[in-house]
Amino acid sequence: MMEFVNPASVPKVRLRTGEELPCVGMGTFGSDRFAPEQVSAAVAGAIRCGYRLFDCAACYGNEDQIGRVFRDAFDEGTVKREDLFIMTKVWNDMHERVEESCKKSVEDLCCDYADLFFIHWPFPNYHEPGCDADARNPASKPFSVEEFLRTYRQCEALLEKGLIRNIGVSNMTVPKLEATLPLMRIAPVACEMELHPCFQQRELFDYLVAHGIQPIGFMPLGSPQRPERDMFPDDVADLQMPEMKQIAAAHGVHPAIVALKWARQRGQIPIPFSIHEAEYAGNLKAMTQDPLTEEEMSVVATLERNNRLVKGQVFLWEGAKDWHDLWDEDGRLWGHTDSPNTTGES
Ligand SMILES: NC(=O)c1ccc[n+]([C@@H]2O[C@H](COP(=O)([O-])OP(=O)(O)OC[C@H]3O[C@@H](n4cnc5c(N)ncnc54)[C@H](OP(=O)(O)O)[C@@H]3O)[C@@H](O)[C@H]2O)c1
Repeated sequence: MMEFVNPASVPKVRLRTGEELPCVGMGTFGSDRFAPEQVSAAVAGAIRCGYRLFDCAACYGNEDQIGRVFRDAFDEGTVKREDLFIMTKVWNDMHERVEESCKKSVEDLCCDYADLFFIHWPFPNYHEPGCDADARNPASKPFSVEEFLRTYRQCEALLEKGLIRNIGVSNMTVPKLEATLPLMRIAPVACEMELHPCFQQRELFDYLVAHGIQPIGFMPLGSPQRPERDMFPDDVADLQMPEMKQIAAAHGVHPAIVALKWARQRGQIPIPFSIHEAEYAGNLKAMTQDPLTEEEMSVVATLERNNRLVKGQVFLWEGAKDWHDLWDEDGRLWGHTDSPNTTGES
């Protein structure tokens, strides 16, 4: 028998707009390993077991299959459209045609509108689905404030048209936000970013919270099934850390559950993925009971290892040294020599 978690018992997070969403969502990226039908079957199971928040994206290649699941759930009366919080994203190769991309996602997902629409990456550089770690696109360019704003303005227009309810950004850095936030008419409500115990992004996290932007944490379990192109010999396995195992043993749960409890209690919205019912049901249930103690929270806080898993090397442009250049680690936009965190295009 499937475990059912009453959605009303799942704690909510309030956005700056006053709108509320569940404190955990279901990821839907098949990591180049799981077929669209496996992912959509998991989404169907997740709705039945009480999930109401779903993280989708055009580039995951499964929105039409997931849309059929949503449509069936609406038709059967399992949920109403307004019960779900559906997020989707514009992929990098559609930055000049955001409305077209959004309409396609909304149509595929059979959802009339997106509750939250992200710019998946802050530049138009793209790679083919399933590419390997050495793939480079010669058309790739460094981040440009101007290009990003052209894309962002299209999102603002979609919001005014009612096709989307909120705008989000993803894979951002503090310098990129510093350079673009003052130029936006409608600020983003959320930022989707990599967040797990060994990669906590404290500076960006605090910046977002200070600016009323909700952090949404992707790869909250350290993505043990991530694509080959995102696996490197020095990567740390979050769920194998002795401290994670110890806390898990104290609660009688898998370390994955500890990572999710930590995420929620810290204030980000984790969006774990699994095709296994026992796992995704357990991940939701974990949000409703048996929180980590303050001491356990402090122990997880010490596990920061700056272990970025999605390095983004496949998006590099000619002239870039390595993947570190994508993330403005010296506090400046790439190619800018002025003092850290300044705004403007060169
Ligand atoms: N905005 C972006 O650029 C971006 C980038 C990456 C991901 N995302 C989003 O974030 C979501 C989550 O990331 P992810 O799927 O890469 O990684 P993840 O959620 O950190 O890890 C998923 C894996 O963890 C395992 N797992 C899940 N629940 C478990 C449990 N209770 N106990 C034990 N193992 C468990 C499963 O592996 P097994 O199958 O081996 O059990 C599953 O495949 C994606 O689906 C996507 O929606 C967004």
